[in-house]
Amino acid sequence: MTGTERISPRFYVRDIPIYGDLILSPMAGFSDLPYRSICRELGSAISYTEFVPVNTISYQHKLTGRTLQRLRYKPEERPVAFQISGSSVESLVEAAKRIEALEPDIIDVNMGCPARRVYAGGAGAALLRDPAKIARIFRELTASVSIPVTGKIRLGWDAHHRNYMEVARAMEENGAALIAVHARTRDEDYSQPAAWEAIAEIKQGVSIPVIGNGDAITVADIERMLAETGCDAVMIGRGALGHPWIFQRLDRDQVPIEDKIAMIRRHLREMLGFYGNPLGLVLMRKHIPHYLKGYPNIRRLRYALLRCEDAETFHHLLDELAQLLSQ
Ligand SMILES: Cc1cc2nc3c(=O)[nH]c(=O)nc-3n(C[C@H](O)[C@H](O)[C@H](O)COP(=O)(O)O)c2cc1C
Repeated sequence: MTGTERISPRFYVRDIPIYGDLILSPMAGFSDLPYRSICRELGSAISYTEFVPVNTISYQHKLTGRTLQRLRYKPEERPVAFQISGSSVESLVEAAKRIEALEPDIIDVNMGCPARRVYAGGAGAALLRDPAKIARIFRELTASVSIPVTGKIRLGWDAHHRNYMEVARAMEENGAALIAVHARTRDEDYSQPAAWEAIAEIKQGVSIPVIGNGDAITVADIERMLAETGCDAVMIGRGALGHPWIFQRLDRDQVPIEDKIAMIRRHLREMLGFYGNPLGLVLMRKHIPHYLKGYPNIRRLRYALLRCEDAETFHHLLDELAQLLSQ
């Protein structure tokens, strides 16, 4: 139990109390058990897995190590939300029933993924084109599993189809317990600012909790999103990469380099423990540019860390980095 959990819940996902108003975004390749559990420990209020395609969890399919790895969690991460992605009502229901046996607290449906390989098959953001199908998905899912079902959406397919209010109502009327809103349409990339006013509109239009998402990078952004939209919590993606302290409401430049290096060492330990050696180290390397964002004159060491192939050398490089940056 973290310190915040002694105070009253910020909101409920159906009957699950949520202590805190900041949540790590589901992020493919980043929201794995090691990083999720670090963020949860520092204050992220729900542990969302990265999205898991339903075809990898259907009854016909043998659950492979990779899929099970995505769905493993530490008990102290609870509440845990398994995010699934699929296109048909039946496949989503079947997958949800199957993974309910792994005892997550929440099943979350991905309705925002803008990757072509996902939406071309009708999953992710493609679902936004069919609010009637979203209604069926939530009706059937909530009737089929005993835990709360939630969804993460974007604002619509494109600028001409910003149907987020219709989607939000379809979700609420069919039993969704929460809506997370990435305030962009499917075809908008990060170069355009997220439209937070749409989060405010959804919050006013439904009575289930609403999580706001998109462009909350700094502590000031977080406070502004909370104030401007009235959302129940802020979901943080890119702002949390290499920066788990955002869940303690600290900006990157407020964290001393010694703490960052200690966290990189801990993160690496967790990665090696979870994925084994050398995969844990290989997967750790992509976090490095994020942890070391903003430091000038470290090109050589950064480059060496990104190519490093054994943990001992990695630690030596971190020693060198600590020395260089504490001068
Ligand atoms: C590397 C990466 C992977 C992502 N994977 C997922 C995912 O698996 N499921 C999902 O719902 N959103 C995914 N997203 C979207 C984020 O959850 C979030 O909605 C988006 O980055 C906007 O939030 P931000 O401005 O705080 O980054 C991903 C984003 C990034 C950058």
